[in-house]
Amino acid sequence: MLEVYQKKIIELLYKQEVLLAKLYKIFADQFPDYKDFWKELVKDELQHAKWIKKFYHAEKKDLVGFSEGKIKTSTMEIFIGHVEKVIQQAKNGEINVKMATAYTLDFERSLIEKNVFTHFEILDKRVKGIMTKLDSETRKHIKKAEDLIDMIAN
Ligand SMILES: [Fe+2]
Repeated sequence: MLEVYQKKIIELLYKQEVLLAKLYKIFADQFPDYKDFWKELVKDELQHAKWIKKFYHAEKKDLVGFSEGKIKTSTMEIFIGHVEKVIQQAKNGEINVKMATAYTLDFERSLIEKNVFTHFEILDKRVKGIMTKLDSETRKHIKKAEDLIDMIAN
């Protein structure tokens, strides 16, 4: 069985992905010129959320071995709060396309810089594989966001 703190990590990882999907969906609707870009990110984030959900199934088999010593759930909670704030601003129509791309880049970069997918000590190979995939896909999002920002600027 998972410990309470391990469940919390899984819940926060899941929430991060779902909230990013929610934000990018708003951007896709608000900026039709760049709809494809954000729609693709929405699809990816929902896929990531699905992968993370698998960690719950691993629970029964004692496969998820997050190490308590290295958790930084506070960092994840701050990140989640920030995304929620931007979702509200976007709903209020307070974000233009340049801000939207900047936030996208900022959020994706922040996940990598704060080592969200790599600072846990993971004992199970399957879970480790998923976390590695989440890390590399987030890096791809950074590259895509950078490319879009360049394109809009030129
Ligand atoms: Fe993601």
